[in-house]
Amino acid sequence: MATSRRVAVVVGSLRKDSLNRKMAAALAAIAPPSLSLEIFEIGQLPLYDQDDDANPPEASVAFKEKIAGADAVLFVTPEYNRSVPGVLKNAIDVGSRPYGKSAWKGKPAAVMTVSPGAIGGFGANHHLRQSLVFLDMPVLQQPEAYIGGAGDLFDESGGVKKPDTQKFLDTFIAAFAQWIERTAKAPA
Ligand SMILES: Cc1cc2nc3c(=O)[nH]c(=O)nc-3n(C[C@H](O)[C@H](O)[C@H](O)COP(=O)(O)O)c2cc1C
Repeated sequence: MATSRRVAVVVGSLRKDSLNRKMAAALAAIAPPSLSLEIFEIGQLPLYDQDDDANPPEASVAFKEKIAGADAVLFVTPEYNRSVPGVLKNAIDVGSRPYGKSAWKGKPAAVMTVSPGAIGGFGANHHLRQSLVFLDMPVLQQPEAYIGGAGDLFDESGGVKKPDTQKFLDTFIAAFAQWIERTAKAPA
């Protein structure tokens, strides 16, 4: 295809040395030419306040416009206390309101959770999927992506050190590209 699909990558960690941010960069580096991945920052967003629906903060409006302009969304997030980090939930809420004007609606999505722990953020992955059902986002089901043991996954330049994981990432991003073609609106 002539035009790449624009994929908004939403990272659920604000940490400078975030493993999830490294993962997002690793996925962007191996994405096929049919996809163009860009991290959409969420740390600047004010806390969602329903009182502001009629006159939302500038940063929230700008974020919503960026999401609305994307063809698909890739969530790459840690698990906090067996759920989604508050900063990510806030970004989801900001993008979803006012009621009936959600920027997320209909956009194909995929979820990857990354953790130094053994169970790879399974709880956050599925709590996030619960929100995406309500937001009416068709979510890639397979392969599921719970990346555990990520504390020693990346080398100093952000390369993935484990060949099995690298192979899985190749499979995952190819499956997401196919999923987007099956479920996204035609490119403008
Ligand atoms: C508030 C908090 C809660 C956490 N809860 C979990 C958890 O439930 N499960 C888990 O696997 N790791 C948990 N962790 C550890 C994170 O997985 C780890 O800090 C990880 O590196 C965060 O992702 P990041 O590197 O992208 O910032 C928690 C960390 C913090 C700061």
